[in-house]
Amino acid sequence: MKSGFSKLSKRKKLRWVAENFFKKPEEVVSELMSFWHEEDKTQKVFDDFSENTLSNYYMPFGVAPNFVINGQSYCVPMVIEESSVVAAASSGAKFWMKRGGFKAEIIGTKKVGQVHFTWRGDGNKLQAFFSEIEAALIEGTKDLTHNMERRGGGILSISLIDMTHLEADYFQLKVDFETCDSMGANFINSVLEAFAKILQQFVQTHPEFSGSERELTIIMAILSNYTPECLVRAEVSCPVEDLGEFGEISSEDFAYKFEKAIRIAQLDVHRATTHNKGILNGIDAVAIATGNDFRAIESCGHTYAARDGQYRSLSNVSTENGIFRFWMDFPIAVGTVGGLTTLHPLAKRSLEMLGNPGARELMQIIVVVGLAQNFAAVRSLVTTGIQQGHMKMHLTNILNHMQATEKEAKHALVYFKDKVVSFTSVREFLDTMRSKSGTVALEKGE
Ligand code: MEV
Repeated sequence: MKSGFSKLSKRKKLRWVAENFFKKPEEVVSELMSFWHEEDKTQKVFDDFSENTLSNYYMPFGVAPNFVINGQSYCVPMVIEESSVVAAASSGAKFWMKRGGFKAEIIGTKKVGQVHFTWRGDGNKLQAFFSEIEAALIEGTKDLTHNMERRGGGILSISLIDMTHLEADYFQLKVDFETCDSMGANFINSVLEAFAKILQQFVQTHPEFSGSERELTIIMAILSNYTPECLVRAEVSCPVEDLGEFGEISSEDFAYKFEKAIRIAQLDVHRATTHNKGILNGIDAVAIATGNDFRAIESCGHTYAARDGQYRSLSNVSTENGIFRFWMDFPIAVGTVGGLTTLHPLAKRSLEMLGNPGARELMQIIVVVGLAQNFAAVRSLVTTGIQQGHMKMHLTNILNHMQATEKEAKHALVYFKDKVVSFTSVREFLDTMRSKSGTVALEKGE
């Protein structure tokens, strides 16, 4: 066991890891240090985000231009390592830009928190005293809620839920919040922890409570990442014939196949998972670029996808009266103030690129990108297949991996236009090209 590791300086931590887990420690130290940003204060900011930081882990920061949402144009920042995601989002955006763009609306912005506790008394008695308890909770957290209330948010409602039919002695306080432009995790958790203490104190000191009724055990107080009422609807629509033709596929056939593809993702859990993963490719990328918690968004989205007991597609489609309509309701809690949004220099730039939106606008942008992503993926799947689009990027990655020169890469892109890309085929291609006769033959176009 290594104790005191967290107390070591960053250099010492790096050295210890390099010496204990790598064959060439010097090489590792200098490689990881090459990603440091010591020349300005940024490095300290990055280091302080987390613990035991050794270096920075770079990811591509790209953009998908041409998003039109509720009549406004956006160039959307995306941070993602997977090839083709940004290209697909951009192509989905462009496709719908020519057909009137995306519509998005906020259905709700309610966040949720819970205090889980056990109590051996009669639930009806607790309920009978609940208005007194509620008043104490509100009064006792005025200091915490004051600022949020000034911004138009705060506690929306508190309810007491008797869960003893599921688990002995189990009750919870379920609290709804409005957290305006912040995601609100710190605010919600601070209020909930204060609620827990106030609740406990209430039963311990109230004259109408006695004996075992005075014993209330707080199990935990924490926000819920499931926020089905913090919800955005994003949609696109156009006459079926305006969908255009896709190679040999007519717009009617395309609409038919697309509708079936969504239906399959609503019915089949294996397909639903991949389908929703495609949606989250877009959603996560914008969430990361704007400094938001993509894990919270993911878990919420997946729970919502299973809200009727079966995990299903998050997106829906209809073709009624000749109109193709594609839409998605997605619950999403994001912030545009606080946390990483104001600390990470690129998150700040991302928000600036989007025109410094408030949380409501950002929620809509992110869900629209998810829908565009899904449209582009399903469009590829039901027309050309997914590999065609993927292969160019895949080829580039393999060429980079094999340290192909610019000239070799150029030839490879032409050569593999109509061929299957694999590590072996690219290796063979490069071997041929690197033999002199191969270069001559390829240059002649043979
Ligand atoms: C790949 O990251 C995402 C897709 O598999 C999504 C889908 O199948 O809908 C292309």
